[in-house]
Amino acid sequence: MQSQVKASVMEAIGETPVVRLGRIFPAASVVAKLEYMNPGGSIKDRMVRHMLRGMPSGTAHVVESSSGNTGAALAMASAVMGLRCDVTVPDTTSSEKVKRIAAYGAAIHLCPPDDYHAAAERLVSENEAHYLDQYCTPLNREAHYRDTGPELWRQLAGEVDVFVCGVGSGGTISGIGRYLKEQNAGVRVIGVEPPHSAYRKLVTDRPAEGVFKSAIEGVGKRQASRSFDPAVVDDVVQVRDEDALDWCRRLAQKEGILAGGSSGCVVAGIAQLLPKLHGLRVATVFPDSGVYYLSKYF
Ligand SMILES: Cc1ncc(COP(=O)(O)O)c(C=O)c1O
Repeated sequence: MQSQVKASVMEAIGETPVVRLGRIFPAASVVAKLEYMNPGGSIKDRMVRHMLRGMPSGTAHVVESSSGNTGAALAMASAVMGLRCDVTVPDTTSSEKVKRIAAYGAAIHLCPPDDYHAAAERLVSENEAHYLDQYCTPLNREAHYRDTGPELWRQLAGEVDVFVCGVGSGGTISGIGRYLKEQNAGVRVIGVEPPHSAYRKLVTDRPAEGVFKSAIEGVGKRQASRSFDPAVVDDVVQVRDEDALDWCRRLAQKEGILAGGSSGCVVAGIAQLLPKLHGLRVATVFPDSGVYYLSKYF
């Protein structure tokens, strides 16, 4: 018998389950990878682990701007590694996500939604800290290309025709999408975002008329992030907040999957696409848990 004890929670990241959504989509083949089962509670654990492996040696202080999950993943890793950690978050972030970051011992800076990236940059320059910068670094999508993508492909035994994924920084869809397409060039990759977000116009000829504003945390951006790779994505669909939340509640009540609003958003996107998905095997990821939004969505 071999010991299965992990040296720290960082080694417990990954190998999350893939589950069929047979109750809400009985006539289709749709599966979801439950990334909220990572120890830090979201898909961002993998990205942060990869980014910290690449940080300059001697780093003692890290900073990140985050809609919450990256902050929690970084705060968790900083606790394990003995790093000082500052996280800037939009002041619209759910209180559970803010408290979660603080509970790991990180310093939280609540900022106006337009200022949380700039606030992180100010902290970095004032403190000579290391900025992870998920919206710019190639390490974001590389984490999913090297880790999440191969894991998903193996768990699906290659049985996937369409990968549908919510888009925030764009790291998840770009990294997993690229890996899946390299295994099978026929795999289609479709992004999902709220209305008026910046990504649809990058891959289709439909403009982003109107001002982007959404209550769904984690997906959609006013300005596209450099972590998004348009070359990997075949289409992007947009989903209204009401529909995202409706599907989020159905996920909990019909599948027993208590996932966050961005998971509801991607499921609403799949429901919208369903007539075009007949006979195709669809896979997606659920980035985080509904537990972080109990006071906001449920
Ligand atoms: C809850 C949630 N869903 C989806 C995403 C989108 O993932 P990505 O940034 O890789 O596009 C994020 C990113 O912060 C998130 O926090």
